[in-house]
Amino acid sequence: MDHINAAADCRSCGTTESQLLAAGNGADSAIGRRTFLVQSGILAAIAALNACGSLGGSDVTAPNLPSNATINVNNYSSLSSVGGVAMVTLGTAPVAIVRTGTSSFIALSRVCPHQGGIVQLSGNDFVCPVHGATYNLSGQWIGGQRASSLHQYATSYDATTGTLTIS
Ligand code: FES
Repeated sequence: MDHINAAADCRSCGTTESQLLAAGNGADSAIGRRTFLVQSGILAAIAALNACGSLGGSDVTAPNLPSNATINVNNYSSLSSVGGVAMVTLGTAPVAIVRTGTSSFIALSRVCPHQGGIVQLSGNDFVCPVHGATYNLSGQWIGGQRASSLHQYATSYDATTGTLTIS
């Protein structure tokens, strides 16, 4: 019965129910509009920062590596044969090293270009656990969530020492 008393109170001050509803809708609309404008401003600012690379200072899908980042291939049994893969971390960058030949390797960023998940090795593919983007061992997108290819770093190999330099 409270709503009847409230209605009676409103009638006693002269405000009709439809005026109250209209005022309420107006308040909701004003708040909604304000919220929309604030959120739009935030989204625009984020877009602008992304566009100029201000978030993180570099391409987040291709994290910077320490200078002179190296691994010794001989320390990774998975790299002893062509097609082998080693998952390593260089500085803070998650990287996949793939042996593509007797003396050739590629190094791929494991940061998914879709939304930054860290891809994992699954059989002969890399799969992102976040939305399922799938890449071959060359880093090319081959299925699942649509995305561009994994970033590839430059490599140079010294077969004498087994040192692979990634940059
Ligand atoms: S973040 Fe990798 S598929 Fe979405």
